[in-house]
Amino acid sequence: MADAPTVTDPTRSTTPAPPAGARTDAVRRHDPAARGFASDNYAGVHPEVLAALALANGGHQVAYGGDDYTAHLQEVFRRHFGPTAEVFPVFNGTGANVTALQAVTERWGAVICAESAHINVDECGAPERVGGLKLLTVPTADGKLTPELIDRQAYGFDDEHRAQPQVVSITQTTELGTCYTPEEIKAVCDHAHQLGMAVHLDGARLSNAAASLGVPLARFTTEAGVDILSFGGTKNGLLLGECVVVLSPERVRALPHLRKLSMQLASKMRFVSVQFEALLAGDLWLRSAEHANAMARRLDAAVRGIDGVRVMRPVQSNAVFAMLPRHVSERLQKRYRFYFWDESTGEVRWMCAFDTTEDDVDGFAAAVAEEMAAGA
Ligand SMILES: Cc1ncc(COP(=O)(O)O)c(C=O)c1O
Repeated sequence: MADAPTVTDPTRSTTPAPPAGARTDAVRRHDPAARGFASDNYAGVHPEVLAALALANGGHQVAYGGDDYTAHLQEVFRRHFGPTAEVFPVFNGTGANVTALQAVTERWGAVICAESAHINVDECGAPERVGGLKLLTVPTADGKLTPELIDRQAYGFDDEHRAQPQVVSITQTTELGTCYTPEEIKAVCDHAHQLGMAVHLDGARLSNAAASLGVPLARFTTEAGVDILSFGGTKNGLLLGECVVVLSPERVRALPHLRKLSMQLASKMRFVSVQFEALLAGDLWLRSAEHANAMARRLDAAVRGIDGVRVMRPVQSNAVFAMLPRHVSERLQKRYRFYFWDESTGEVRWMCAFDTTEDDVDGFAAAVAEEMAAGA
């Protein structure tokens, strides 16, 4: 352990000490103390994850998942998701989704999802082009599907002219920062199963959901009836990596082939797997997600008091969606990074991460107040 970074303060996570004796010709090209509110994946790597990566380094290990870290990861995931869970580490969230969806569909299959789903809006058509899947979308008020909303697309099962709805895909927490209750997910799963469809869950921020609900991960996944999920790591302090987690093996086929076919099979998989061990063997996943959520709640409380700022959606994870005059947002963007969520309405999204500090939030809220006061 002599060369493992020892920094544990999450606010210093982007500046771990270099391993003793390591030298590098690389030059630091950014300010490691600068943090914004653009996305949780703007954050660096949690020092405990970096320490795990150092631990897994050295020597040779079997490539393509035949290593000891990936073998152990099965047990780590089963502790969270139950004895039938099977985990497949991949590179990124888009890859996890596309791989998982192919494993629960046939060539004529279609996916029912919310219009706002990441698979529909932000994956460059990869489910369609790489997965060959048709997406059947439904508008929602809050990013959540319900049995009634699913029924708007769940028809035509005997019609050879229609792409066959074979899976319902939901996101937890949703792209709009809202969180399904375990009961809501169970209702979706029961309904989908009654209609002969499987359920995929995009869990890029699943840890934030567990932190928000205060329940174990299995409560709103395995126990609710989810068949397959994409488990996020990158947005919760990993360097990179997500996992496809199979919960109903009887509904899933050919995952190992589909992962490779979808260009998601890491040859040095031990370095993806060990990060998830660092995240899930103890409570790092929950500590980091609880912290990010708490920072979003702090931001919500701070900006609600500012005249002219409207928080648009319930803050149930690590995101705050707000409306303020566009020119004010544009001025603020010169001081802090964040995105417009909806260019047409001017709604903005402010994301917190595991390394967002109270001072970051208070400083940002003060900047919002200043720019609002400065007016036009
Ligand atoms: C809900 C959701 N799913 C999936 C992803 C995909 O992640 P990646 O950028 O790793 O492909 C993201 C990333 O923003 C996301 O927000």
